[in-house]
Amino acid sequence: MPSPPAPSVTVLGLGAMGSALAAATLAAGHPTTVWNRTPGRAEALAAAGARAATTVREAAVAAEIVVVCLLDHASVLEVLDPVADALADRTLVDVTTTTPEESRALATWAAEHGIDHVDGGIMAVPSMIGGPGAEVLYSGPRDAFDTARPVLDRWGQSSWLGDDPGLAPLYDLALLASMYAMFAGFFHGAAMVGTAGVSATDFARRAAPWLAAMTSELADYADVVDRRDYGGPGQQSLEFSDPSDILRASEEAGLATDVVAAVRALVRRQVDAGYGADGFARIVESIRNPGHDAGAVRADAEQPIVAGGTS
Ligand SMILES: NC(=O)c1ccc[n+]([C@@H]2O[C@H](COP(=O)([O-])OP(=O)(O)OC[C@H]3O[C@@H](n4cnc5c(N)ncnc54)[C@H](OP(=O)(O)O)[C@@H]3O)[C@@H](O)[C@H]2O)c1
Repeated sequence: MPSPPAPSVTVLGLGAMGSALAAATLAAGHPTTVWNRTPGRAEALAAAGARAATTVREAAVAAEIVVVCLLDHASVLEVLDPVADALADRTLVDVTTTTPEESRALATWAAEHGIDHVDGGIMAVPSMIGGPGAEVLYSGPRDAFDTARPVLDRWGQSSWLGDDPGLAPLYDLALLASMYAMFAGFFHGAAMVGTAGVSATDFARRAAPWLAAMTSELADYADVVDRRDYGGPGQQSLEFSDPSDILRASEEAGLATDVVAAVRALVRRQVDAGYGADGFARIVESIRNPGHDAGAVRADAEQPIVAGGTS
């Protein structure tokens, strides 16, 4: 039996990421229409067989699946709102980085205009698109995700997280938060050893296996955080985890202390509230209660988080 024709796709936005997404669908045989605000960015894709639309409306009506990959939520609305009628009954996949509330707002806007909307969070850089390491997180109605999936799977592993359109950006930004804080810690360490003439390259040779080994702690920390059981056995106490010595060493070396001071502030709020003997993971309560005295967060008022899954 001949295989069904590859669904057509439109890509709005030909920055570094949009161009990579369009190139991948084109290479996989999907009829691909592209549009970009600034003319001239479609040339390479057009030479490879893409149809370059001159207006958003022309691009929007050209395909069943319309992908939008722009700068931010505001630019997405600016581009889509004038052509909402042309998008009705189409599947809109927004892989622009947005906040969860922005994604939910776009979902509401889409529903009002009869558009099926899926939100995406790209966990890759453009050069990874179409390769084995790329993953894109999605959320929104499962049937819309399934409709778009033949296209989405061209970019990497497609992971659907649930109906709530805010879930994909929530995971996306939470993973990026983990990454940025880790990298900032690495850069702080590199600056520290740099004061003794050690190169960042040498430091990275030790930091990479050390940080990789430390990630084995995440599952145990997660269990403590979910159960909110910071007083259980085997936990390194907050008093022991106070990074004041790292701060002093950094000050002695004439370095900025912002990265370590941020961790110490989170620790201090819990210690000052009387939780110094509790485990280090309790700093999550400093994050969860930004405007409150940590002392107000009593163990008997804290509810465990029920484990949830994604598919
Ligand atoms: N690059 C990455 O590694 C990466 C990874 C994951 C997620 N993302 C996300 O993917 C999205 C695009 O990233 P990118 O790397 O492709 O960015 P980029 O290279 O800076 O491209 C930005 C795109 O947005 C368009 N744009 C900006 N403001 C606009 C407006 N008001 N109206 C119409 N078009 C507008 C630009 O058009 P012009 O050419 O006319 O300026 C361009 O096509 C972002 O949300 C980003 O966070 C990127």
